[in-house]
Amino acid sequence: MKKLFIKTYGCQMNVYDSARIADSLAPLGFVASATAQDADMVVLNTCHIREKAAEKVYSELGRLRRMKEERASRGESMVIAVAGCVAQAEGREITRRQSAVDIVVGPQSLHRFPELVARAARDASSALETDFAPEEKFDVLSASSGASAPTAFLTIQEGCDKFCTFCVVPYTRGAEYSRPAIQIEAEARRLVEHGAREITLLGQNVNAYRGEGPDGETWSLARLLQQLAEIDGLERLRYTTSHPRDMADDLIAAHGSLGKLMPHLHLPVQSGSDAVLAAMNRQHTRDHYLRLIERIREARADIAFSSDFIVGYPGETDADFEDTLALVRTVSYAQAFSFKYSRRPGTPAAAARKQVPEPVKSARLQELQGLLTTQQNAFGKACEGRRMPLLFEKAGRERGQAVGRSPYLQPVHVDGAFHLIGTMVDVQIDEALANSLRGSLLRPDCEQVPAH
Ligand code: SAH
Ligand code: SF4
Ligand code: F3S
Repeated sequence: MKKLFIKTYGCQMNVYDSARIADSLAPLGFVASATAQDADMVVLNTCHIREKAAEKVYSELGRLRRMKEERASRGESMVIAVAGCVAQAEGREITRRQSAVDIVVGPQSLHRFPELVARAARDASSALETDFAPEEKFDVLSASSGASAPTAFLTIQEGCDKFCTFCVVPYTRGAEYSRPAIQIEAEARRLVEHGAREITLLGQNVNAYRGEGPDGETWSLARLLQQLAEIDGLERLRYTTSHPRDMADDLIAAHGSLGKLMPHLHLPVQSGSDAVLAAMNRQHTRDHYLRLIERIREARADIAFSSDFIVGYPGETDADFEDTLALVRTVSYAQAFSFKYSRRPGTPAAAARKQVPEPVKSARLQELQGLLTTQQNAFGKACEGRRMPLLFEKAGRERGQAVGRSPYLQPVHVDGAFHLIGTMVDVQIDEALANSLRGSLLRPDCEQVPAH
């Protein structure tokens, strides 16, 4: 038995990939380890989206180098691998900056990981693999076993053709690729057999999904969702992340007609200013986005929205930023992520002359986050007193407690629900907390039956 430790950064697609790495190394005798210290192999599955995310990898590698040296002094080895988007973006530069690294593998060549491990064991020089081979990746990796958690991720689409001017993803994940529907359905069925009740379909641009259907036609995301909704035992479907340009009519309609599709949608807008949206190459206007929100609400009245925002994009003026605040007030989000613009090497915006000064970015971020937090709290408050179905996912912090997800993706803590993990149960929402809710089980049926 050899021990494997994987640390995952970045988005859910990396979470999915990390699980596939673990699956693919299991036949080589690797089992999961809780810490890096005692691991024979450490994988950092990295993210390149913002400067901070990428720099974290190098400080972590410094720590791992010292662990590797300590282990070597005891006659033990440690293989260090860098996977994910930093691996793709920086390639050989990683081993130049940190010679303790043995393997560098990009996200589209993950299926070659076992081969690279063997290569690293054979010779002392580091192994590098950064080809774009998504088709092969999924053909090989989908053969792996599924997870048994109540909620699971399933990558259906990878890569991005949008080329927003701030973003590294089109370079690190390559061109858009959609997996064939039949492969996705088989994987979904396997996940459900292994205990999954909720599946989140993943893609950098998931609603641009255009995969080959079993009927030879090209299937849209809506068509795929319809097919997956037929799976017995699968209770909930979600998908992320969507681009406003690809919210097709059939997908909007699916929010009204598919009961298993949860009333929560992450629809990043980045900015509320038309000038900034155009400069970002987002390919839609503020009005287009607001109209979409209206139409999706018409299809599903209780839908909750979340979004991503970037403040301080090059050239963003106070008036542009005010437009973002106004858009947020109009939509009213249940939840959101917001970031200061980060210059990424190789992207068009990095070369722009009118960079926004750091203190201005910080002030704007604080103001935006204040507004978004107020909206999130209001959304939580509005849930108090309501009954809603939860899917219990895991144990809570206190004894007997379990944490479930509401239809709107909020975590809900419920006492005495530990035995319900893996099941869907209606609960009463008692209180909204900062980032979660507290709920209680409804009175058991037997108490409602009159005693004879
Ligand atoms: N495909 C998704 C987002 C992928 S990246 C979409 O189209 O929205 C996740 C989020 O990171 C983005 O929505 C954006 O808000 C943020 N982000 C991407 N590049 C960034 C950069 N250079 N600086 C700051 N935030 C960035
Ligand atoms: Fe990046 Fe834009 Fe593609 Fe999203 S749509 S991954 S932000 S380039
Ligand atoms: Fe990061 Fe790559 Fe995901 S850059 S956000 S890990 S696609």
